Amino acid sequence: MGKLRVMSVFGTRPEAIKMAPLVKELAGREEIASLCCVTAQHREMLDSVLQVFGITPDWDLNIMTPRQTLSAITSRCLTGMDAAIESLRPDLILVHGDTTTTFSGALSAFYHKVAVGHVEAGLRTYDKYSPYPEEMNRKLVTAIADLYFCPTENNRQNLLKEGVRDGIFVTGNTVIDALKTTVSKEYHFTTDLLNRLPYGEKKVLLVTCHRRENYGRPMEQIMTALRRVAEDHPEVELVYPVHLSPVVQETAARYLGGHPRIHLIAPLAADEMHNLMARCYMVLTDSGGLQEEAPALGKPVLVLRRETERPEAVAAGTAALAGVEEDAIYNMASRLIRDRAAYAAMAQAVNPYGDGNACHRIADAVLWHFGRGDRPADFRG
Ligand code: UD1
Ligand code: UDP
Repeated sequence: MGKLRVMSVFGTRPEAIKMAPLVKELAGREEIASLCCVTAQHREMLDSVLQVFGITPDWDLNIMTPRQTLSAITSRCLTGMDAAIESLRPDLILVHGDTTTTFSGALSAFYHKVAVGHVEAGLRTYDKYSPYPEEMNRKLVTAIADLYFCPTENNRQNLLKEGVRDGIFVTGNTVIDALKTTVSKEYHFTTDLLNRLPYGEKKVLLVTCHRRENYGRPMEQIMTALRRVAEDHPEVELVYPVHLSPVVQETAARYLGGHPRIHLIAPLAADEMHNLMARCYMVLTDSGGLQEEAPALGKPVLVLRRETERPEAVAAGTAALAGVEEDAIYNMASRLIRDRAAYAAMAQAVNPYGDGNACHRIADAVLWHFGRGDRPADFRG
């Protein structure tokens, strides 16, 4: 029997961080040829992850353009994927999460009648436009996929409610697998500021904000609140690695620039980011990935959104929805800075999103699907 050809497709930073440990796990299996096709929906931010994890793609669509539209990403991905699939001849295509690369990769697999495995399946807000376009991307991929790798039992329940019957596995989130390889006590940052920050004496707030549905007024409200937080609490050092989207760059510079305790810095390599998160006081973010990583590292998270498809950490008490209005964000952040008891209640390490063995389970499930191994036991959080 020949090797099973499994092609992982990804294009943005978070997909890359979460797929990197899986690409490696698959490569370590004798029965599998692990292939990697990147769309490069992100260029610099993707390359940084590939470098950290030592992955060389077999195919690179190189589609990114400045200020790209959703239609442009989709059409460039679809066109580019034809040649990748015809040349690499996968038996299975794995896509991750909810980006436009995810949707286009799955659609292209369908056009070529190649089976699809969806990693990080079953997340939902049930609000078509929030997050936008991610909620629709993941629903569309659900319709196409053959295998569903759900991080949590809650995600599996979402799929069952929608009538998905076969091919569901609860695996944990592969981001916890990635964290296991990046965080260490002895870590030395290459970004010098991060070595100099007084983590013990001051309160280092780690911020990220980039979502499309937050462009405009919500992002302005968020950033105004963050500036007030820094101004009113002299013990705060705010570190914000700013996403390369020009919209985000411009808004961050306008609302947060020029303050001595607000550090607007370039996007960090994944290992730098994870180690900064492990050392900071708390996290304020609209990112999906950070909502999963911070609880595992025992850091409270204020979610800068109206809803979340990741309710597990909110239920566990380590994350709270802060919304996108200035006063609410300011008040919630100030409370966690000043009120020790409120902070302590949220600063517990919990791992609702995985035990670090998600990739092992996914590889086992892939082999099982093709009749080459036993079905893996589900992750129980
Ligand atoms: C994308 C995903 C979003 C995910 C986010 C992670 C879509 C529609 N959105 O949003 O789900 O949360 O990635 O970060 O799939 N840019 C660069 N260099 C880079 C990356 C981006 O210059 O390495 C700039 C480009 O001008 C690009 C713009 O950022 O056009 C926006 O990138 P895009 O992938 O379209 O959207 P994101 O907001 O990054
Ligand atoms: N991240 C990173 N450098 C940064 C900001 C984020 O490596 O400067 C990592 C972060 O730790 C997480 C992932 O990127 O693993 C999240 O990506 P992002 O916030 O861009 O997208 P989302 O998760 O919201 O889709």
